[in-house]
Amino acid sequence: MAGVDTLLLISPSVPAQEIAVIDSAARHDVQHVVKITNHKATEDSPVGRRRDHARIEAHLRASGMAATLLAPNLLMQNLFFLAPQIRQTHGFEMSAGNGRFGMVDSRDVSAAAAAVAAAPAGHEGRTYLLTGPELVTYADVAAELTRALGQEVEYRRVTPGQHRERMVRAGLPEPVAASNAQVFGLIAEGDAAWLSDDVATLTGRAPRTLRTFVSDHVRCFGATA
Ligand SMILES: NC(=O)c1ccc[n+]([C@@H]2O[C@H](COP(=O)([O-])OP(=O)(O)OC[C@H]3O[C@@H](n4cnc5c(N)ncnc54)[C@H](OP(=O)(O)O)[C@@H]3O)[C@@H](O)[C@H]2O)c1
Repeated sequence: MAGVDTLLLISPSVPAQEIAVIDSAARHDVQHVVKITNHKATEDSPVGRRRDHARIEAHLRASGMAATLLAPNLLMQNLFFLAPQIRQTHGFEMSAGNGRFGMVDSRDVSAAAAAVAAAPAGHEGRTYLLTGPELVTYADVAAELTRALGQEVEYRRVTPGQHRERMVRAGLPEPVAASNAQVFGLIAEGDAAWLSDDVATLTGRAPRTLRTFVSDHVRCFGATA
């Protein structure tokens, strides 16, 4: 931390680890911390990783350093995890039902984070919600992939319980699979159906659409990838 003015904290948000980083920053007189968090991070959230973020945020507030929170909606780059299944089976399984979400490209999250970290004055104590420009569903994801690949990509709806079992079978640790399935179940109920203009406010550019993301990465999802 020596010589660091501003810290940008993006990690899988294990509390002991991020808290150790925050403590180190405070000891070394870091002026401002920009943290990636979750919009629904509360101490009593039913989702463990959201409670973790809330714990880290509380520690950050208590540190006395100036801070800015960036809360992205679901990242488009999560779709890369589905790419092998899409290539092999021309479809994907998901337990988010018809739930809508303000999916955001992580390139726009990075641009917003860089804008704040490079000039943090005025962003102290603020929370920004980072979303794409539109609410979409996994049916829209399938339609955009179908359009870009020129062959049908099917959205196969499964229950959160089935989804958890399949993620475990695919090699995810049980707690991670359970937490993911829990979040997809919440998304089905509308938990991620929120939008904001904050990406454009921070970066001066409209956030990328799902169509742009799919078009930029179409080769990852195609049979020849
Ligand atoms: N994914 C989403 O849709 C989403 C939505 C809202 C908020 N968030 C939040 O955004 C943050 C990042 O999420 P993510 O999905 O991008 O997480 P991720 O895929 O687990 O990766 C985050 C980054 O952390 C690095 N990393 C992994 N283990 C680490 C460790 N032990 N110490 C330091 N760095 C480590 C990884 O580096 P390597 O690539 O080198 O391994 C990677 O660049 C989390 O706080 C998450 O809660 C994510």
